[in-house]
Amino acid sequence: MIRDERLIFEKSVPGRIGFTLPANDVPEVDLTETFGEGVLRSSGPEIPEVSEVDVIRHYTNLSRRNYGVDSGFYPLGSCTMKYNPKINEDIASIDGFSQMHPLQNPMSAQGCLEIFYRMDKYLAEILGMERVTLQPAAGAQGEMTGLMIIKAYHMSRYDEKRVKIIVPDSSHGTNPASAALAGFEVVQIPSDEKGCVDMTALEEILDDTVAGLMLTNPNTLGLFEENILKISEMVHKCGGLLYYDGANMNAIMGIARPGDMGFDIAHVNLHKTFSTPHGGGGPGSGPIGVVKELVPFLPVPVIEKQDDYYVLDYDRPLSIGKVKSFYGNFSVVLKAFSYIMMMGPQGLKSASQAAVLNANYIRKKLEDLYDIPYNRICMHEFVLSADRQAQKGVTALDIAKNLLDEGYHPPTVYFPLIVHETMMIEPTETESPETLDAFVETMRRIAQLAETDPEGLKHAPKNTYVTRLDEVKAARNPVLRWRP
Ligand SMILES: Cc1ncc(COP(=O)(O)O)c(C=O)c1O
Repeated sequence: MIRDERLIFEKSVPGRIGFTLPANDVPEVDLTETFGEGVLRSSGPEIPEVSEVDVIRHYTNLSRRNYGVDSGFYPLGSCTMKYNPKINEDIASIDGFSQMHPLQNPMSAQGCLEIFYRMDKYLAEILGMERVTLQPAAGAQGEMTGLMIIKAYHMSRYDEKRVKIIVPDSSHGTNPASAALAGFEVVQIPSDEKGCVDMTALEEILDDTVAGLMLTNPNTLGLFEENILKISEMVHKCGGLLYYDGANMNAIMGIARPGDMGFDIAHVNLHKTFSTPHGGGGPGSGPIGVVKELVPFLPVPVIEKQDDYYVLDYDRPLSIGKVKSFYGNFSVVLKAFSYIMMMGPQGLKSASQAAVLNANYIRKKLEDLYDIPYNRICMHEFVLSADRQAQKGVTALDIAKNLLDEGYHPPTVYFPLIVHETMMIEPTETESPETLDAFVETMRRIAQLAETDPEGLKHAPKNTYVTRLDEVKAARNPVLRWRP
């Protein structure tokens, strides 16, 4: 079959339409009379003129070229792209929710405010924190919000010399970026031979200029920081605060809580751990929880319950202000709320247990054919190295491209940077033993081919719509706009 590669604009035929508008039942107004000539455009918009069936076919065919967690196994490491139960979508599309307007009088939006209020409580319970703000629209924005709170806290004590944020090299890339954006000096510390924070390096760096430490836990190697209690004790002792990047909470929900580990601020990614899809960059939600001492600094408004009503509390003099328009991405919060209600405390715990079990299952099944640099019990993900295969000429990138041909979304490659030829595998909890076995089988076959026919693996993918792309060019010089 010949594929039609044309853009929808290129399928346009003058005069062809795919809609009928109802007859105009309001008087026509000449805008120029009120606003002057300048308000009118000089030519019509250049939008495609196509029939309804053209539109349906065009976008259905495009969607089939995509690969998502609804199409197949998606073991992307670091970001928990887990399956999103469809009931969450059903709940979020109930008219009473989807037709709400953020400027509506709070008295007529009590149901939505109750969901925010209860979600604050649920997440506070899950994180071991006092209160939560649901405003940040992504994990990285949660980090930024947390760092603004750290700054506001030190400033409120006139402790202006605290300018450093410590970030281990196994943390997620957004951590140092957020700290720099918030105006802190970023100090990186190395990992030890077990893949955890190097305690000697930490000891050396701690002084009264440290504003705080940001820790991704489990870290990007999929490992739980063994010295976490000691770390929080040391940082607190020198007057710093502790920020917990909880984007990897999928490993520990209902089992361990950042608050109990001594952390002062923690974020979760609702669009990952709590099962709300966020294709194409959004919308997401990265709420942060804080301990009691930091509650006054939370962004406004905080949703409070007064008598029987939910109210928006703006009267908080120490607040860092607003970090997002209105109150956060309500529909994302709602989907996550639905997920939490559906799972219950035991369900969340079981999800984490299964996520950890699945990752360890794959790790054990691949350890004889691939190098696993930190080969010990992992959390929800693990990192392997394709170094052995690279010596035969087959890199992590080649393996990823071959997985595409086999019908899998490849894992994250070349991250974290502290491992050569990295592949970071996160199966998540929803995958069956059959799916895991089939993936393992494929990975094993590729490893064997790397020994016997390395050249044969260099030309994948062959079964996808496009073959190997110049990825650097795509990143440096993206062409995202069609010009007539
Ligand atoms: C560990 C970790 N921290 C932070 C982030 C940033 O989250 P977001 O992509 O929502 O900004 C991610 C995801 O990319 C992550 O995996």
